Amino acid sequence: MSEISPRKSTSGIPGGKAMDNSKPFIPSELARPANLQKIQQRKLQVKNYPRTKKLEKIGVYSSCKDENCKCNGWKNPNINNMSSNPGEDRQNQQISTAPVTLQDVCHACNHPLSNHVKHLDTAKEDEINRLLSMIVDVENLVICVQKEEDTDTKQVYFYLYRLLRKCILQTSRPVIEGPLGSPPFSQPSINKAVTNFIIYKFGHLPQKEFQIMHELAKTFIYCLNQETLEAPTARSARGQTDDFNEYKMNYTRWLCYCRVPKFCESLVHHATVDVFGRLLLKSIFPLLRRRILDDFRSDKFHVPPDKRTLILSHFPKFLSMLEEELNASNSPIWDVDFSQMPAHMPLPSPRSNDSLSDMFITSPGTPGSFPSLFSITSPIGSLQTPNIAVTPGGKRRADSIILSSEDSKRARSSALSDTEHSQGDISLEVINEVVNMITDPAQMLGPETTHLSSQSARDEAARQEERQGLIEFHVVANCADASRQILTWLVEIQNVFARQLPRMPRDYIARLVFDTRHRTLALVKEGRVIGGICFRMFPTQRFTEIVFCAVTSNEQVKGYGTHLMNHLKEYHIKQSMYHFLTYADEYAIGYFKKQGFSKEIKVQRSGYVGYIKDYEGATLMGCELNPRIPYTEFSNIIRKQKEIVKKLIEKKQQQISQVMPGLTCFKDGVRLIPIESIPGIMNTGWKSNNENSRKEIVDSVDSLFTPLKAIVQSMRSHSSAWPFLEPVKKSEVPNYYDIIKSPMDLKTLNEQVRSKQYSSRAQFVTDAQKIFDNCRTFNPPESDYFKCATTMENFFYNKLRDHGLVDSR
Ligand code: COA
Repeated sequence: MSEISPRKSTSGIPGGKAMDNSKPFIPSELARPANLQKIQQRKLQVKNYPRTKKLEKIGVYSSCKDENCKCNGWKNPNINNMSSNPGEDRQNQQISTAPVTLQDVCHACNHPLSNHVKHLDTAKEDEINRLLSMIVDVENLVICVQKEEDTDTKQVYFYLYRLLRKCILQTSRPVIEGPLGSPPFSQPSINKAVTNFIIYKFGHLPQKEFQIMHELAKTFIYCLNQETLEAPTARSARGQTDDFNEYKMNYTRWLCYCRVPKFCESLVHHATVDVFGRLLLKSIFPLLRRRILDDFRSDKFHVPPDKRTLILSHFPKFLSMLEEELNASNSPIWDVDFSQMPAHMPLPSPRSNDSLSDMFITSPGTPGSFPSLFSITSPIGSLQTPNIAVTPGGKRRADSIILSSEDSKRARSSALSDTEHSQGDISLEVINEVVNMITDPAQMLGPETTHLSSQSARDEAARQEERQGLIEFHVVANCADASRQILTWLVEIQNVFARQLPRMPRDYIARLVFDTRHRTLALVKEGRVIGGICFRMFPTQRFTEIVFCAVTSNEQVKGYGTHLMNHLKEYHIKQSMYHFLTYADEYAIGYFKKQGFSKEIKVQRSGYVGYIKDYEGATLMGCELNPRIPYTEFSNIIRKQKEIVKKLIEKKQQQISQVMPGLTCFKDGVRLIPIESIPGIMNTGWKSNNENSRKEIVDSVDSLFTPLKAIVQSMRSHSSAWPFLEPVKKSEVPNYYDIIKSPMDLKTLNEQVRSKQYSSRAQFVTDAQKIFDNCRTFNPPESDYFKCATTMENFFYNKLRDHGLVDSR
């Protein structure tokens, strides 16, 4: 780009009216929507010219195509070529607003203008329009060159102007060459890193709160894409001189690939957030942050006042957290292969081309279309972010973080309920009604009716002790400014590990516990550490190594080990880390299995080999966390779910108050009947999910036809079939249809078999069963009809079995 040297032009707007010149022209404002619209209108106007006029316009930007003619561009005969100003852009001067015709003769070569566009004689309209569009872009760039005051920026405009002029001459497409390179210039892009950021920092939140963060991320991305970068000299005049050359390079790239293509569509446009990464964001962040907040404060985007307040109250914290990740040397959001999904469900990334107009920014007087974010009343202050202190240098410091199971319960209950309720065939109302019925926890099903019972869940006692404040859980780590308390706890936990893991050298334990990259979840009872888990997180590889885990001997088998592990799981879910790895010795395998570990490792081998400590004779075990499970409350939730199912069954039983006559066929030697033939079973909503149903699926209409036809035929020939041969006539039994709502008879059954209406045994058996049930419902047991029904029922099931339609399980 060093060869770029803008020259002054005094000739006004070449080629005519590119932009409305009545207003002061600010190049950086060309990318504003209103100006973009004007540019589009201008292009449309030019494209609507008759072909001759189009060629006249292109001709003045083209070289002479006459054979042997060396003229490299149109020289307007109506303009005095000999400028007195040596620095003048003569080429521009030739392209005047003065009207030309194809017959006008070039001042340089004496050939008519038509010779300059001879090559376009057979050109398609699309190509002509493309060249015209480029000409409008050139015209706008000329204005930019003329009006721009910053030298660096002016140079870039001039370079692009010349590039487009060359492309018109050569009827080629513009390609930016040279030291700038081609986009993307950095990986991961800002867009990707911001997506990583919200997943990393807020992925554990319930969906609604995560959504807030997602919307803020989109706002940030939108603002950054709209941002006008500060010119390098202006930036260094403010005292930002450290990375001048780097910044200048990125600024030039930004002009060429992001800014100018916004109003010069002949150049390929790239979104700032897609092509730049950490370096650029770092260099512009402080100013960007101030501008974004100022823009919202001054209501630049015409956001309704309540929404604006909401944005202004959330955005500063969001931006500070992002800045922290921007400056932290070990932040995983800048890892190219960061891959993580938010706890609840995949959400689209804040794409750079998302238009905020349909999210945040409503034009004045356009109420309504505001994003879901702002219909949420929950304050952002309630976000469950881990309390990790950050030193001024950006280094993370895990001080003591008190963990409470209540925290995680609150954070997740809404996520669970939202998703759970939306699934299944039981309505939300019924679930709510049933949940309200459950008032006495002692009545709940499952283990742990009391924590002293032998049936109680392993962690119940520990959970209750935590609620009563008898025990506490803290994540502690050694660091430069660790408090006395933390150091005391570290020494105590080191002693617990040393006693419980006698095969581990004591100094080795001390070294790891006090290593600043390791953290320990400590269980404190009456002020003393009685157990803990020492772990090391590998954020880049997305797993945590469990290094030591122990509970002091006189406190074992009381559920502390389970509750410790559950807390550790929740701590990791909050940080979007979903994998544990550990080397377990033969004595520990049983414990880890009970905590959900297995020998099946889900983390890629290359991710952990060489990173975690390998012990001879030990077995590598892994545990994948499910971010939707609130682990410290898990056994309680299972208990509640069991109770809900029990109540639902009771509720259904009350609804089906009809008493069925019961089965008598077994007295007569029938041994097996299909479940669906049990009177009333289908009314309860019963669905087969066993072998039967699988067999039914493979039943086909054709394969059933022959046996069903034979069964009905034999029934119709039976001596007890006479009451069922025809439908009951209303004229003969006037009240029959008042009582029997689903009538059936052998004639109808036969017709349905012959017209191949049965595609499963269940359908056929249900209809046949109706014949017997209806009869016994309408007639008294001592009647002949009743007896015939029972005889026929037995006969029917024997026939089913004869034809292999009853499973002989
Ligand atoms: N093998 C098999 N099962 C074990 C076990 C072992 N070594 N240690 C505990 N369990 C079982 C318990 O019986 C209990 O099972 P249950 O729920 O079916 O009754 C379950 O694991 C958890 O019991 P809990 O009371 O929650 O654990 P704890 O407080 O006793 O702590 C240890 C478990 C492993 C931390 C503790 O026993 C200990 O410190 N052991 C010595 C150190 C050690 O081996 N650490 C592991 C490797 S670093």
